[in-house]
Amino acid sequence: MIYCLCYISKKNNHLKNDDIQNIVSYSQDNNAAKKITGVLISYKEHFLQYLEGDSIEVYALFDKIKNDSRHSEIHMLQYSPLKNRLFSDWSMAYKEISGLSDVVLSEPEEICADGIEEVVNKNAFWRGIESIEVISNLIN
Ligand SMILES: Cc1cc2nc3c(=O)[nH]c(=O)nc-3n(C[C@H](O)[C@H](O)[C@H](O)COP(=O)(O)O)c2cc1C
Repeated sequence: MIYCLCYISKKNNHLKNDDIQNIVSYSQDNNAAKKITGVLISYKEHFLQYLEGDSIEVYALFDKIKNDSRHSEIHMLQYSPLKNRLFSDWSMAYKEISGLSDVVLSEPEEICADGIEEVVNKNAFWRGIESIEVISNLIN
């Protein structure tokens, strides 16, 4: 059964752009092999990741990810059955955003160019972004 899993986490302080690129390219290969799709959002000092695929595969991957020292303070927001994948074409899309308002105010063309137009209409994504806002406000 296809499930989606969404979590937020805090980046390790020393994480560089290159490190993130490494995570993304590794994930693209590994996820493709496991038929896992999704998106990794980098938002200020946080990650939001949304994964979809076989329920057991997705949870097993999350188990690995949550023990990864490149991030911490991992909060799972959602783990639930899914009728249709939102990211069937993306083993792991990546998007860096600088703020909620940036995304809301972006020109649709700009978002489409990055291939994540689907995401911005989906509840899980917005709930995740809102949670990052709330949690980062609590932390900072
Ligand atoms: C924010 C973040 C997101 C990650 N996302 C994935 C992912 O989608 N797929 C993946 O295989 N590894 C991902 N990783 C890397 C895993 O934590 C882990 O290092 C990797 O799966 C290596 O596992 P292996 O030793 O079994 O090959 C992510 C790591 C971080 C910090």
